[in-house]
Amino acid sequence: MSTIVITGTQWGDEGKGKIVDYLAERADTVVRYQGGCNAGHTVVAAGEEYKLRLLPSGILYKGTHNIIANGVAFDPEVCLQEMDALAARGIDASNIRISDRAHVVMPYHRLMDGIGDAQRGADKIGTTGRGIGPCYMDRDDRVGIRVCDLMDGDEFAKKLKKNLERKNAELAAAYDHAPLVYEDLLAEYKGYAERLRPFVTDTIPLVNEEIAEGRKILFEGAQATMLDIDYGTYPYVTASHPISGGVTIGAGVAPKRIDTVVGVVKAYCTRVGEGPFPTEQLNDIGEELRRAGHEFGTVTGRPRRTGWLDAVVVRHAGMLSGIDYMAVTRLDILDGFDEIKICMGYRYKGEVLKGVPASLNVLAEVEPIYETFPGWQTDISGIRSYDALPENARRYLARMAEVTSIALGIVSVGPSREQTIVLAEKLF
Ligand code: GDP
Ligand code: IMO
Ligand code: MG
Repeated sequence: MSTIVITGTQWGDEGKGKIVDYLAERADTVVRYQGGCNAGHTVVAAGEEYKLRLLPSGILYKGTHNIIANGVAFDPEVCLQEMDALAARGIDASNIRISDRAHVVMPYHRLMDGIGDAQRGADKIGTTGRGIGPCYMDRDDRVGIRVCDLMDGDEFAKKLKKNLERKNAELAAAYDHAPLVYEDLLAEYKGYAERLRPFVTDTIPLVNEEIAEGRKILFEGAQATMLDIDYGTYPYVTASHPISGGVTIGAGVAPKRIDTVVGVVKAYCTRVGEGPFPTEQLNDIGEELRRAGHEFGTVTGRPRRTGWLDAVVVRHAGMLSGIDYMAVTRLDILDGFDEIKICMGYRYKGEVLKGVPASLNVLAEVEPIYETFPGWQTDISGIRSYDALPENARRYLARMAEVTSIALGIVSVGPSREQTIVLAEKLF
């Protein structure tokens, strides 16, 4: 196997960073293919915690190549901040390549994201405010500024001038905001361009040549299936395609070059931001999940909404991404529960729905059909083999695999690299 896609199956924060970092030890290259610094991927290595937003989670290994591909909404300021923060901790992040086709996040994108979402009032999405949606909007409107433009001083100046005229008019009219100053932005971004120049390249041949050479490549998804712009709980979604198909568009890799897909499944469920969440527990159980799991957002610090595992959602992800293996994370967070539930299907007006309905009005009203499992009520964080897990934990995992028709590939019982049990045979 030379290419593996790691994708989130729920509403994000499943532990993709941990799984990518774990597999990255044996990978040659890690590629981010969509999203931007709305992601917050936590990696714990040698007792140190690293929170990565834009840089691929392979960055902590010395020999691993890291690629920010064309599908990423690229914020140069955040990229440099992250590289500097790693350097201050003794980690050389220069092993990074940035696509010249990636779209650049500009300060007006961030402003419009933050003010725009607040203006939606009760209908707000609860975005991360990082400008990701507005950056992709400019791409689709065909006025976006790409990294290749950023590298070309004259072209950047020309495009910025044109865009800023329009953005400043919009900022004044719709956002009640003072205009941004052209000369300031030009100088700021010129500084970023000079620092980033050594890392910018056409990443498409780079990735495809590595695939042709049989090198081991991990594609690191950000966000997750239920936040996918088309397949998630629209409009409460992000503006990109986290599903495995996003790799083909976001990294320039043909579908037949994808060998294996790993879906990361949190052993329960969380969501940050607004939108329906059928298994949400607005009660003591939800509080306990948040407390035990320290469920607060990596990027925004917001408390995450919590609930039971939803097999309908994981099946949806499995089908859309062609998931070969599940990487089940945070099983240890359930250690203290005497009862654990999985939602097997949705009941709506007396009928059982097998899939995720398109209509949010329907999704908001479905009643989850739960199966209840006895907990194991013992600390599993030190366990290193599947057979050594308590019987009730194995029963929970086996049922999860059965009802989703996805094989168990990895079980994670803690944030660090060692706290990982691998069952899959076909991972590198
Ligand atoms: P991502 O966005 O999918 O990469 O996930 P986040 O990093 O936002 O959130 C997952 C959190 O769970 C991080 O703090 C990880 O360090 C942590 N984590 C990952 N796997 C496990 C696990 O198996 N057990 C525990 N207790 N924590 C984990
Ligand atoms: P990782 O990669 C969880 C959510 C936001 C909001 C919606 C749209 O760490 O799993 P956006 O800023 O993308 O326009 O916000 O998507 N969201 C995430 N939730 N994990 C993430 O990333 C997320 N990235 C965006 O909270 O509901
Ligand atoms: Mg996260």
